Amino acid sequence: MLKNKSVVSIDDVSDEDILEVFKVSDQMSKLISEGKKSEILSSRIMATFFYEPSTRTRLSFESAMHRLGGSVISVSEASSSSVAKGETLADTIRMADAYSDVIVIRHPLEGSARLASKFSSKPVVNAGDGAGQHPTQTLLDLYTIKKEFGKLDGLKISMVGDLKYGRTVHSLIRALSRFDVEINLISPSILRIPQHVMSRLPARTKITISDNIEEDIENSDVFYVTRIQKERFTDQNEYRSVIGSYSIDGGLAGKMKKNAILMHPLPRIDEIAPEVDYMPQARYFKEAANGIPVRMALLSMILGGE
Ligand code: NCD
Repeated sequence: MLKNKSVVSIDDVSDEDILEVFKVSDQMSKLISEGKKSEILSSRIMATFFYEPSTRTRLSFESAMHRLGGSVISVSEASSSSVAKGETLADTIRMADAYSDVIVIRHPLEGSARLASKFSSKPVVNAGDGAGQHPTQTLLDLYTIKKEFGKLDGLKISMVGDLKYGRTVHSLIRALSRFDVEINLISPSILRIPQHVMSRLPARTKITISDNIEEDIENSDVFYVTRIQKERFTDQNEYRSVIGSYSIDGGLAGKMKKNAILMHPLPRIDEIAPEVDYMPQARYFKEAANGIPVRMALLSMILGGE
C-alpha cells in the first residue's frame, strides 16, 4: 500500500503496488480518453521542487494533479527560492511539509530525495536525484511494456547508452530484476552500469553485457535507448570521447523484430534519428504520454483517493 508513503527508490514500491499502479493507470487512461476530469484530490496540494531541468516529468506531474482536481505550487529554480540565500534542503522541505500534502523533488545530488523524506511528515516523491534513481519514470516504463506485450515475464530487454549516470536505467533494472526477463546492457566501456547497482541485483537476474548493438537490436523485444548524461561528467574530454557512441537510424530500427518496441525516457539528442519516429517500433512518445495516467495513479494511491 502506497498510502502516505514516500517513493524515493523503486524498492519503495512493492510488487503488489506495481500491479495496483497498472490497474489504476488503466482507469486513469480511460478517464483521460473520455475527456473527463476527477475531483478526488480536490482538497490536496502538491509542491514541486525542480532543481534540475525537466519538461516531461514536471509537466506530467502537474497535469496529473490538475486532472485529479488537486492544486500545485512549485519552485522551478533554486535561484528563485531561498536556496539562493543559503537555505538548506532540510529547512526548505520543512516548509513544504507545512504548505502541501505531497512533495515532488528533482535535485542534482544522489540521496537528496531520501534526505528530504527524513525532514517531511508528508510523502516525498523522487523525480530524479542526480545519477541515483527515477522511480516514477520506471513505473511508466513498466506500464508501457506491460501495455504492449500484456506481460513482462519472458521478454528480452536491452538497455543502451549511458548506463553509468542514467538514473532511469538504475531504477528500471532494479524493477526488471523482479521479473523473469533477460536484460542486456550495451554501453561504451567507460559508461558501464555501476558496481553498486549490479551488486544489489538478485543473483538469479539474467544479465549479459555487450557492445554489439546490431546483433542485440535484432533479437530484443524492448530496446531502451538513453541519452549520454553530459551534465554528470566531471571530465569533458571523457564526455567528448563517447559523444554519438550509438545512434539508431531507420536502417538499424528496421532490423528490429516486427512486434519489438523502441523506448527512450527522452529528451533524445542524437541517439535516435527523427526518421525513426514514423516507424512502427517507435514507442517513446507514447511512453512519455503514459506519464500522465501513471502519475495520476501514483498520486491517487499516495494521497488516498481512489
Ligand atoms: C530523464 C531524466 O531526467 O533522468 N528524463 C526524464 O525524466 N524523462 C532522462 C534524461 O534526462 O536523459
